[in-house]
Amino acid sequence: MIPPAVVDEVRQTADIVEVISDYLKLQPSGRNYKALSPFTVEKTPSFFVFPDNQIYKCFSTGKAGNIFSFVMEMEKLSFPEAVELVARRSGFDLTRFTEKKNEPKSAHEESLTETLRWAAKFFHGKLASSEGKTGYAYLETERGLTEKTIKSFGLGYAPDAWDRLFTAAKQAGIPQEHLLDLGLITPNKQKNSWYDTFRNRVIFPIFSVGGQVVGFGGRTLEKDSQTPKYLNSQESKLFEKSKLLYGLHAAKNEIRRKETAILVEGYMDVLALHQAGLTNAVASCGTSLTRYQAKILTRYTSRVLFMYDADPAGQKSMMSGIDILLAENLTPFVIMLPKGDDPDSFVRREGGQQFLQFAEEKMLSFLDFQLRFFMESGNFGQPEIKSKAIRTMVHTIALIPDRIRQELYLQELSKKLDITLTALKELLGSEEAGEEKKRSAVENRRDASPPPKPEAELSVLEKTFLKSLLESTLYGNTVLEFAASHEEMLELPHQVAQQIFAHLIDRYQAIADNPEERIDITTEIGLFSNPASRDLAASLLIEQPVSKKWLEQSNVHADNAKRCLAMFLDAFKNLILEPLVGQKNRLTESIRLENDTEREIELLREKIVLDKKIQKTSRDLKKMITTILENS
Ligand code: UTP
Ligand code: MN
Repeated sequence: MIPPAVVDEVRQTADIVEVISDYLKLQPSGRNYKALSPFTVEKTPSFFVFPDNQIYKCFSTGKAGNIFSFVMEMEKLSFPEAVELVARRSGFDLTRFTEKKNEPKSAHEESLTETLRWAAKFFHGKLASSEGKTGYAYLETERGLTEKTIKSFGLGYAPDAWDRLFTAAKQAGIPQEHLLDLGLITPNKQKNSWYDTFRNRVIFPIFSVGGQVVGFGGRTLEKDSQTPKYLNSQESKLFEKSKLLYGLHAAKNEIRRKETAILVEGYMDVLALHQAGLTNAVASCGTSLTRYQAKILTRYTSRVLFMYDADPAGQKSMMSGIDILLAENLTPFVIMLPKGDDPDSFVRREGGQQFLQFAEEKMLSFLDFQLRFFMESGNFGQPEIKSKAIRTMVHTIALIPDRIRQELYLQELSKKLDITLTALKELLGSEEAGEEKKRSAVENRRDASPPPKPEAELSVLEKTFLKSLLESTLYGNTVLEFAASHEEMLELPHQVAQQIFAHLIDRYQAIADNPEERIDITTEIGLFSNPASRDLAASLLIEQPVSKKWLEQSNVHADNAKRCLAMFLDAFKNLILEPLVGQKNRLTESIRLENDTEREIELLREKIVLDKKIQKTSRDLKKMITTILENS
């Protein structure tokens, strides 16, 4: 377990804006930042980051929290794993807390992420062993990778045997279901035993943006043609190939710096380019580029150098990839490599400098690439062929969200093809009409999903109570101490509010023996067991502080701590009195409606008792509050 003080330190050292911009394209909005929410589909940003409080909130879904809860959501991690990831990012070493020495491991304790990490270590370790010699030789000699590259990308080797991983996992106490869930082992036909899925393959661990291992790709060392060349981890919640870009964790900063991403097809292409110093390269990993992958790139840059293999399949993939990139408002440029090359072979032969020079000289705009593609594949002298090509290109331009860019490309096309701009615009109009129809069909389907359920009502009083309780932790433990010793007097009607209240009291009681200890409220809200409490508490924290509000309303120039305490005590008093007053009002109403005189007298007596109780409680509370405030 990571000690709470260390968790606080990690949180305070890391900057939520920096971490979140690994995942979203943040734009400044006053003192804060906003982005399109990752939790929903939207056109107007409703996701905000508040650097002052180190909290984020999505106003469309109500989800809110701190740096850790954000990483948990985005990387699908447990709390300690998220802390570790954030820590690693800012150079903290937490291994001394997370490494389990001698502790017996229970199956449930281990998460899938830990198993993935274990497997990556296993494969990587094999490379250095005698069993892994062939793997190492392949990477080094045949593929020209250096030790440094092999290490930094954590490459590995799956031995040429049936059960090396399976057996090692058993010895390490790794739960078998995990291996099955992750597709690391495969049941045999009779389903009575299992064997390793990856055998005699060099292994490429695939990382999330945050650098977590989420799956593996394995390239066979077999020379026969039946064995598939590459094998990838099976799809799961953790491993969605269509939502990943290989190498992004290592490339993201350089992509930002260079304002350009190099987009290639394969694992080896990324490794060779990075090794040659072109560390802004990422791979879509075979298959065609997805909309999601394009969206990921938009967080870091708007410029993409498209560089797939120089074969017909590669060119076709780029043709469809262009549409996908443009639809996300990215600007693709295409580099056609010499015939028979892929980026890996080319950069290995020519070196990084040559590669860059070639790219600069041969870079084509997407329009020029399309033109060349069509000209090479058909006779442009024939009107049917030419018009078909024009339609396709206008269709591509229609996908660009930006009007001005559309217009500019149309002008270019008009010049290059000797077609009037008017004709092209007309075509564009009809293309867009078609697109619009498709879009609204999609949106209608989306609207059919049930609306999010409305939040239960939180009373103004409860809100003030919670806000001042949360805020008070910034100034010390006075309010918590009072709350803890008067807890039994109060049960908040709003369930989530009560959970927050109870959690804070529990936490206070845990640290109460040590007067030096403080609760770091921004860390704390991430520890609430119910996400609804976290969302509510985070939302309250980013509102105007009660101390400030109070300052505006009154002329009291007490310090924040005192204002907070006063606010809290006032809310506390009213929360206790409120139900009593409610009871009294109901009683008054019953008396008014009562016809039976005897019963009426009875109720009147009750009311007098209640009145006294209210007055006494109110007096006691007021006195107590005055004393507390005077002594604080
Ligand atoms: P390629 O077939 O072009 O492989 O597939 P490559 O990267 O050039 O491989 P080498 O150089 O022969 O080793 C490109 C990418 O497509 C994915 C892999 O991510 C691969 O890197 N792929 C390919 C698969 O996922 N499965 C396959 O069977 C083939
Ligand atoms: Mn290759």
